Amino acid sequence: YGVVVFREAFIDDDTLVEFSSHLGTLAVVPTGEHDRPEIQTITMQPGRANPVLAAYRRGNFLWHIDGATEEVPQKGTLLIAREVADAGQGGTEFATTYAAYEALSDADKALIEGLKVVHTVSSSFRHVPGLTERQISDFAAHTPTEHPLVWRHRNGRKSLITSTSGAAVVGMEPVEGEALLSRMMDWATQDRFTYRHKWQLGDIVMWDNTGTMHKAEPYAEDSGRLLHRT
Ligand code: OGA
Ligand code: MN
Repeated sequence: YGVVVFREAFIDDDTLVEFSSHLGTLAVVPTGEHDRPEIQTITMQPGRANPVLAAYRRGNFLWHIDGATEEVPQKGTLLIAREVADAGQGGTEFATTYAAYEALSDADKALIEGLKVVHTVSSSFRHVPGLTERQISDFAAHTPTEHPLVWRHRNGRKSLITSTSGAAVVGMEPVEGEALLSRMMDWATQDRFTYRHKWQLGDIVMWDNTGTMHKAEPYAEDSGRLLHRT
């Protein structure tokens, strides 16, 4: 399964780190947000998260995979709900890119086999309104990464690596590459490939990050929504 949900698991943060470490090497991000450097705090509430990172997390509202702008994207991500937004706000949506890949026509599978996509931080934020000049130049300073459009997992299954960070296709004219990427994004995010998680306190959701895309649904900054992430 691309996404696994443990309803109301209510494990503490040390147990979250311990549990996550059984699945692979933990990404350690020195955010200064939490006394465990393995935990990131996902919230929009001012004063609660590292402000630089809080700005970056505005990209969470767009379909993405985690770490697409790093050399190796994360294998998986876990979130636990410490506080939830008011009813109906701040869910998280997932799209399986295994099923999206499998449902492509043979012609499309042949078209995209072997293609590489350039991922940039600027592209991740291209639909985020109200960015400052400083943010725009900080984002533009990141070195782009390249990932295959078709991701082959160790077990032989294939999925798509599509993400808002996808800016261009290597070797294609910009217009042609953008059109292909946007067609793949639209394809992969059809309702039939998606799951919407409505958070309850204590829920853990973990996902296969190179086989699913995800995005946060809107919520108010003062909603209190707080997720802990590994
Ligand atoms: C993340 C993320 C989505 C959410 O933490 O990587 O995209 O719903 N979170 O907060
Ligand atoms: Mn994410």
